[in-house]
Amino acid sequence: MFELVRVVSKGEAEALVVGVFKDRKLDSATRALDADGSIALAAARPECTGDVGRIAEAYPPGRGHNRVLIVGLGDRAKFNPGSLRTIGGALGRRLAQTKDSRVDIELAGALTDAKPRIKADFAGRCLGEGLGLIAWNFTRFKGKGTPDRPKKTPLFVRSSDGAFQEGLERGLALAASTNIARDLSETPPNIATPAYIAVQARAMAKAVGLSCRVMEEKELEKERLIGLLNVGKASENRPCMIRLEYTPKSAGRKSKGDKPVVLIGKTMTYDTGGLSIKPTPGMAGMKRDKDGGCAVLGAMHAVATVIKPDQRVVALLAVAENSISDEAYRPDDIIVYRNGVSVEVTNTDAEGRLVLADALIWACEKESPACIVDLATLTGGVVTALGSTFAGMFCEDDRLRERLQRAMDTSGERWWRLPHDQEYNDMMKSNSADIVNSNPNRKAHPIQGAAFLSFFVDKSVPWAHIDIAGVHAVDSDSGPFIKGPTGWGVRLLADFLTR
Ligand code: BES
Ligand code: MN
Ligand code: ZN
Repeated sequence: MFELVRVVSKGEAEALVVGVFKDRKLDSATRALDADGSIALAAARPECTGDVGRIAEAYPPGRGHNRVLIVGLGDRAKFNPGSLRTIGGALGRRLAQTKDSRVDIELAGALTDAKPRIKADFAGRCLGEGLGLIAWNFTRFKGKGTPDRPKKTPLFVRSSDGAFQEGLERGLALAASTNIARDLSETPPNIATPAYIAVQARAMAKAVGLSCRVMEEKELEKERLIGLLNVGKASENRPCMIRLEYTPKSAGRKSKGDKPVVLIGKTMTYDTGGLSIKPTPGMAGMKRDKDGGCAVLGAMHAVATVIKPDQRVVALLAVAENSISDEAYRPDDIIVYRNGVSVEVTNTDAEGRLVLADALIWACEKESPACIVDLATLTGGVVTALGSTFAGMFCEDDRLRERLQRAMDTSGERWWRLPHDQEYNDMMKSNSADIVNSNPNRKAHPIQGAAFLSFFVDKSVPWAHIDIAGVHAVDSDSGPFIKGPTGWGVRLLADFLTR
């Protein structure tokens, strides 16, 4: 929607944004900006309802701003910080129409009335996220067949409230990291092959100062990363494992030796289902089966550019294409992992867990992780259960879960806890191998996935599995998102790594 959105403190702004709560008058800070009374007049009009994101406009005649957007902040007594993301999205949509490119955002005064109270920097951050997220769209493949595409213009924002403006900057930066994930998600599978993902990861790592290692086929064989090799067998686009590492700048010997947080992402560049092939309606959209990995990449970008935690962070992307050919792995195959667990393949469409197993084993064996968080578009069952509102989250470690809870509260990326239990592990027993990759009955699908993964994680390592199959994309415009990928997880993980 915009070419870019950036904070700039200098220069005259054409537009001014102020806020009003539902059923409330303009606050004193806003009244002080209303030299000729035109804001008060507009605020008294019926379209100025105060509902979240509803915008009424005033056009002061004299010098200064020639447009004022009075945006609704919702119910003051039930204020929800997350609504500032929706508000940012609504403002962005309007400003893209009005073509104002320099905007003063003066919401800090009005927001002092909010209950519960919100700090100005956090408010700025949420609004910045909304503006940065709504700015995203994907025109890379728009060609000669779309002659009159709207020209993208830059948007410069600022605020006289220093804390709010710093927040804006942070929110825009977090949105920029999120948009990296959305760009990759949207890129079609004939372009975004495993090799392409590796090139993108390398370039991103180089640009922001992360180290990057790509394990290609030879190395996968040497290291016996058998899940990736089998799932990737049928495709000429060969699988790989990508490892990124962030080391704090200030790293003394101590923090270098510290156990890292390990982030793992399912990165299936396309999921046909393999020989257990998906029916047509289930296959379309499976370019987004890489979104766990895309979110982890975006989160590593945020780690390097915004969060800069003083702890090591390692990312592992298990990248493959689940296709079909005479070389495809099949239902009934048995494969043996490097941790000694044998798996009978009952369904080649339950491929995500097979490649995640490699990454989980690798993390436990090679990285001495402080904890592991994996993100995966793992099951259709979680979409049925939770829709696009909550991700499905599995974590038996109280401390890790509490940290993820705090990150969910600040990022607004919400999950709902689902259970682990021995009975679910028992469902995965195989007659001829240790476990199956999918129990043929339809019971507890999202939990079967987590139960399967648990066979590849050391009991001593705190671990969370987040099934994002419902939340990684939306099928219509909503809040600060347009139809398409949401980059779900980038901001959750960024906040998770913020101390
Ligand atoms: N990638 C799919 C899950 C998925 C479904 C993601 C819908 C996004 C939207 C996964 O690999 C898959 O095929 N899961 C199967 C598992 C089954 C075969 C055990 C499913 O959910 O049906
Ligand atoms: Mn599948
Ligand atoms: Zn899949």
